[in-house]
Amino acid sequence: MDIKTNSINNIIENGQWYHTILYQDKKSKGTFDYTDLIDKLNFPNMQNKTILDVGCSDGFFSYYFLSKLNANEVTGVDINKYDGSVSFEVLNSFQDKYKDKYQDHDDFVNLEEDYKNLGLINSNKYLFMKKIFDLNMNYKFGSVYDLSKFNMHDVTFCGSLLEHLRDPITALEQLYFKTKDYCIVDISNSFRNPIPFLDKPYLKYTGAGGNFYHYSDKAIELMLQTIGFNRVETLNRYKIPIQKYNYKIQHTTFIAYK
Ligand SMILES: C[S@@+](CC[C@H](N)C(=O)[O-])C[C@H]1O[C@@H](n2cnc3c(N)ncnc32)[C@H](O)[C@@H]1O
Repeated sequence: MDIKTNSINNIIENGQWYHTILYQDKKSKGTFDYTDLIDKLNFPNMQNKTILDVGCSDGFFSYYFLSKLNANEVTGVDINKYDGSVSFEVLNSFQDKYKDKYQDHDDFVNLEEDYKNLGLINSNKYLFMKKIFDLNMNYKFGSVYDLSKFNMHDVTFCGSLLEHLRDPITALEQLYFKTKDYCIVDISNSFRNPIPFLDKPYLKYTGAGGNFYHYSDKAIELMLQTIGFNRVETLNRYKIPIQKYNYKIQHTTFIAYK
C-alpha cells in the first residue's frame, strides 16, 4: 500500500469524525451515521445547482449533494479554524470548559504526519473529503451571522446549527439573502407541541452554556415565513442515534422557497 492510501485509511479509521463516511471498504466512526438514512430524507435533486452549505463541518452533506444529488458546485462555510479552538458560540463563563472538550476533538495532534502526506496543513475534514473524492467542493472560513462576502447560491443549506446559536433569526435572514431558489434547514432536538390545536411557535431555552435552544416546528416555520420566504414545507421528521449512547435525537428538515 502506498503512503497516501495508508494515510487516508488511517485518518478515516482513527480520526475524530462528526459523520460516518464511507471510502472504499473503510468507514469512519462518526458521532452520527447518516449513511443508510440519507437517501430517505427526501432531499430534492440538485442537478446543476450551486449550494452554500453553512456550518458544513466535515462536508458529509456537501459530498452527498455533489455525488448523489448532482449539484454542480458546493461552497462549505464554517467557523472552525481547525486549531483545537471552540467552534461554537458559548457563554463567556463556559469558555474554559468547552476549550478542554474541543482540544480533544482535534486529531491533528495524533495524525499530523498523515495529513501532511496528503498535503493538508490541519485536520480540516472538508478539505480531506475534497481531496479523497476529488469533488467541486470548496471550503471557506466564515460565520452564518455574516454571509455578505459570499455570492448568492441556488440552494442554501444549514444543518444542525441553529440550536447552537443565540441569534437564530439573524442566521436565517443571512441565509435568505444568499438564496436564489430554496433554503433547506435541518433542526435537531426539534419538537412538536404536545397540544396540537395550540400549535404555537415555541423556543425552549436549554439552560446550557452553548447549544441554547430547542425549537418547535412551528417556530422555525414562522421565522422563515416572517423573514420573507414565500412557502415553507416540512421535508421530513426523523430520529438519528448518537453512536456512543443509546439515545436518538429528533430532527425536522424544512425547505423554504424564495
Ligand atoms: C453540529 S455541526 C453540523 C454539521 C452539519 N451541517 C450537519 O448537518 O450535520 C455544526 C457546525 O457548525 C459550525 N458552526 C458553529 N457556529 C457557526 C457559525 N456561527 N457560523 C458557521 N458555522 C458555525 C461548527 O463548527 C460545526 O461544524
